[in-house]
Amino acid sequence: MPPNGSRISGEPLLKRFDESTQSGARRHEPPYPEPAGRRIEGGEARDGFGRRLVRLHSLVMRRSFWSTYAMPQVSVRRMSAEQVAEVTGVWRRSRLDAAPEIEARLGHSLEDDLGHFGDVVMRECDVWIAELDGLIVGMMAIRGGHLEKLYVEPNRQRLGIGTLLLDKAKSESPSGLTLFTHQVNSRARGFYEARGFEPIEFGMSSMPENEPDVKYAWSPRRSENAA
Ligand SMILES: CC(C)(COP(=O)(O)OP(=O)(O)OC[C@H]1O[C@@H](n2cnc3c(N)ncnc32)[C@H](O)[C@@H]1OP(=O)(O)O)[C@@H](O)C(=O)NCCC(=O)NCCS
Repeated sequence: MPPNGSRISGEPLLKRFDESTQSGARRHEPPYPEPAGRRIEGGEARDGFGRRLVRLHSLVMRRSFWSTYAMPQVSVRRMSAEQVAEVTGVWRRSRLDAAPEIEARLGHSLEDDLGHFGDVVMRECDVWIAELDGLIVGMMAIRGGHLEKLYVEPNRQRLGIGTLLLDKAKSESPSGLTLFTHQVNSRARGFYEARGFEPIEFGMSSMPENEPDVKYAWSPRRSENAA
């Protein structure tokens, strides 16, 4: 287990990763053709060793083998200072994907984002990342019980990564969490509401954004009572 992060057993997540990254007809097929049958022409598989070899080959060719033993796992850990460019990239791509019109209106450049991340976010927040196979695929920033940011790389969404990060935020915030999101962000609202957050206030975000937003709250006590 890393010193400041948690290694997460990825079985259910990796199943979903595997399924959602395979396209078209390959989606429900093993990565290589299944062997046609147990029988190998020529008679050499008829002895015990040959049969065991065929069974081993058949096991290795199954998708479940690859998703259990060969697929990478997601780990959640605190970001380090040298990861600022990579984390800013995830935050920026995810924002542009979630709200392209708002982002076009605001027009923040990559340099603006890097500056904001280094000068404000890293100084004021506790920043966590999700890593998959050595790549940063998600990030979140918490400031005193308030979830400032939670962003997953667009092509890695709906695989459970946001939930892993949110679970870490909950475990780091024993008195509860609040957050704001845009009212039109149905993806984020569905995500938070399915994970125990309740809308507590509808309003407008500050200038220059000036968008209808909603404040959500989660409390561990309420979640325990609901369970
Ligand atoms: C919100 C976000 C962090 C979720 O991350 P994720 O890795 O996709 O989350 P998970 O895979 O753990 O869970 C996905 C869940 O989100 C919800 N969800 C996803 N897309 C949805 C949609 N179009 N409508 C409603 N709910 C949706 C569902 O509850 C879904 O669970 P399901 O797949 O079991 O149905 C991610 O979509 C994201 O980064 N969005 C862009 C940035 C953003 O809006 N951040 C929040 C700003 S406050």
